[in-house]
Amino acid sequence: APEPSVDFYEAVGGGETFRRLVAAFYRGVAEDQVLRPLYPEEDLGPAEERFRLFLQQYWGGPRTYSEQRGHPRLRMRHAPFRVGLAERDAWLRRMRDAMDEIALAPEYDAAMWDYFVRAADFMVNNVEDL
Ligand code: HEM
Repeated sequence: APEPSVDFYEAVGGGETFRRLVAAFYRGVAEDQVLRPLYPEEDLGPAEERFRLFLQQYWGGPRTYSEQRGHPRLRMRHAPFRVGLAERDAWLRRMRDAMDEIALAPEYDAAMWDYFVRAADFMVNNVEDL
């Protein structure tokens, strides 16, 4: 399976592809009754930008995320938000829709989707749901 690398990043279309993916995802978040209330800021733009920079870095693109934010520590950064199974499922549903919208070639779609499923499980932090 394709792995995160500069080749992966370029093969899926580089920064423009990640920009389109997170734009589609945040369009979904904006209208999601489970997810939207979790976001502290009225303007989702800055959150969209942080997520875009993180994904670009993770998949082999520019390291701007860490230059601006330091080590990702994603579980710790999600600790202030209640992420139970309903939140995880809503997040993955919105991400699936966003990925369908950008329609990557199947092997890249599968690699990225597999990562999102594992990462979303990792972010669950609500003990009542575990
Ligand atoms: C930030 C929710 C899963 C990556 C956030 C924020 C919320 C949130 C409310 C704060 C928004 C902000 O940046 O101001 C959730 C929920 C998830 C989830 C409900 C359900 C499982 C994920 C996954 C990833 C991810 C799977 C990575 C693949 C990020 C990143 C940030 C973030 C990079 C910004 C971190 C920073 O402050 O630099 N998330 N998230 N999230 N999330 Fe998630």
